[in-house]
Amino acid sequence: MAVVPASLPGRNFPILQDMRPGMYFSDDIIAEVRAASDIVDVVSDYVRLKKKGSNFFGLCPFHQEKTPSFSVNPELGIFKCFGCGAGGDVFRFVREVEGMSFPESVRTLAEKAGIELPEEGETSRERADAMEAVYGALRFAARFFHDELTRADSGQKALAYMQRRGYSEATIRGFGVGYAPDDWDRLLKEAEAKHISAETLEQAGLVISRKSGEGYYDRYRDRVMFPIFSHMGKVLGFGGRLLDAAAGEQENPQPKYINSPETLVYDKRRVLYGLRQARQVVREQEEAVLVEGYTDVMSLHQAGVRNSVASCGTSLTREQVQLLHRYAPRIVLVFDADGAGEKAARRAIDMVLAEGMSVYVVELPAGEDPDSIAQREGASLKDYLVKHRLDFVRWLHDTAHRAGQLDTPEGRAAGMRAVLQAIACIPDALTREAWLPRASEVFGIPEGRLYDVLESMATSRQREEFRRSARTGRPVSGAGGQPTGRSARRSDDPSVRKSRGPASGARPSVFSALATEKILIRLMFEQGLPMVTYILGNTSLNEFSPGASRRAVEGFAEQHRAGSMNRQAFLDGAYGAEVQQLIAEVAIRREEPSENWEQKRGVVVPRLDENPEEAARQAMKRLKIVRVDEAIARRAEEQSRAETSGDDIRTYQQDIIQLQALRRRLEKGEVIR
Ligand code: GTP
Ligand code: MN
Repeated sequence: MAVVPASLPGRNFPILQDMRPGMYFSDDIIAEVRAASDIVDVVSDYVRLKKKGSNFFGLCPFHQEKTPSFSVNPELGIFKCFGCGAGGDVFRFVREVEGMSFPESVRTLAEKAGIELPEEGETSRERADAMEAVYGALRFAARFFHDELTRADSGQKALAYMQRRGYSEATIRGFGVGYAPDDWDRLLKEAEAKHISAETLEQAGLVISRKSGEGYYDRYRDRVMFPIFSHMGKVLGFGGRLLDAAAGEQENPQPKYINSPETLVYDKRRVLYGLRQARQVVREQEEAVLVEGYTDVMSLHQAGVRNSVASCGTSLTREQVQLLHRYAPRIVLVFDADGAGEKAARRAIDMVLAEGMSVYVVELPAGEDPDSIAQREGASLKDYLVKHRLDFVRWLHDTAHRAGQLDTPEGRAAGMRAVLQAIACIPDALTREAWLPRASEVFGIPEGRLYDVLESMATSRQREEFRRSARTGRPVSGAGGQPTGRSARRSDDPSVRKSRGPASGARPSVFSALATEKILIRLMFEQGLPMVTYILGNTSLNEFSPGASRRAVEGFAEQHRAGSMNRQAFLDGAYGAEVQQLIAEVAIRREEPSENWEQKRGVVVPRLDENPEEAARQAMKRLKIVRVDEAIARRAEEQSRAETSGDDIRTYQQDIIQLQALRRRLEKGEVIR
């Protein structure tokens, strides 16, 4: 279904999710960062490039290949892969290769180029300063703890503990493991000497203010410290573990783990332990292994399963699943073999499926956890995890079977219902259906009866989702059962969303306005003035979406009036950074409907290069149909409002009739000369 191949993880990150206050940058700043970023230099951090003519070539980082089909054009400041189709400007490259949002990519490139990003407004300026200070304190603490671990006197027993558990020096270093000394204020004092204030340490979650009177004390004492990194490599917090179990059983029992509280910089819902170390492998293998604990992640990495991550000190969140989805389409759950682990797995299955990803479960022998299995299996862990993985239907069946639940007809029905509930989480209707034969095979229940039950479950689930999103104002992922989680999120672009409202009385178009506009913009850019004459002679400016799209068309109109075409002006940013980006994108990425569309929907679209004029005509026709549908939807809404308030609705009706007639003429290919 998805037009984007699943092998391109970076192409579907949840944009909205990352847009937090204070993260918007002005066009000027973006242009400045772009100008200061040498795309060849940036790409070279990830790809070995060779110069050939005026372009550079290398192996594409977005798909597996043996011969280079990935190219960078330093003049235009763009990249393009002829193998997988990825392409765009320097921001897009960073976004895709790092799985980042746009603001994150701006910040990363700015940092690399040494440009200081202004924050908008005083409060966010203060906030940014505070965050910087907290990051600094956390980085300092991580280094301090790590140094303590390797110091003969202080961290000796902690290091011995880690070694006893089988961790190599490389693993300890790779995860930055440390030791918090057995003292009430060592960190406080060390930090003070480095001019890090107690207030900052408190904001970082590293110290706690004394209940009685003044002063602070260290949160972590005599514990092994596991730093928690962002996927970008910033220290966000820590998990601190007791050295020996006995301390947990004293009179005054200590918790086994103490985790950092949430802070200015640490939002637990959005962080996965080990992702920093795992992300490249997750991307390559198109799969993440999800476990429950810090030590599980480390042991798995050490045993060669370097695509494993854990949620730290929280149960799995939707944000974490979305974060993983930026890197891979599939998650393998390896949870502890106990009641809690089983319960967590059930919950995770639903969440992963609801995100439009696939999910497998590895069942461990009773009493084991991923860490113990990894330490035992060593290098053969990889095979073990492949051999023991079950699809979620089989796993749900097997757990029900083991619990003796399937011995009675009622129990079997309940077991089946649980499986259907899981399948109903899948946003894509075709994928849901595709799981039915498997469910019927595993449970030995004829498939015919299952379909209706499943679809009614899916429908009520979607309704529930909508209600929830209406309350929280968050977008519904893959709702409506039509687009998958991936493709649904691709239309976070507001101009696309606007045109999606199904018009009453008219079939919603299968094309989005924006994709169609991009075809027209590309044609004008490539074909020059005659094409501009043709397109602008048949469309009006307000048929193009406000924003970059309309501004680009204004640019073409301006050049048309001046009587000569200046392509470079678009690429130089003369019409603003957004237009520049849009043009770079359409110039490099073929915004053509896929062959799939042609086959599936019987829509014939001439290739743009073959017959540009016909391509333009088709694109204008589609754009107009989308706009007519929007107008019909608006009128219908006005009509129903008028109806409610008892007003005359005839004018609306007449408008709608006329619009529908126009739509029919458009469909027949009339109207456009
Ligand atoms: P080890 O015993 O060191 O191997 O850790 P584990 O990962 O096997 O621990 P367990 O399975 O008990 O817990 C999994 C995760 O839950 C840990 O990594 C912690 O994030 C969290 N956790 C465990 N115990 C505690 C606790 O006492 N307090 C808090 N806040 N979190 C805990
Ligand atoms: Mn363990």
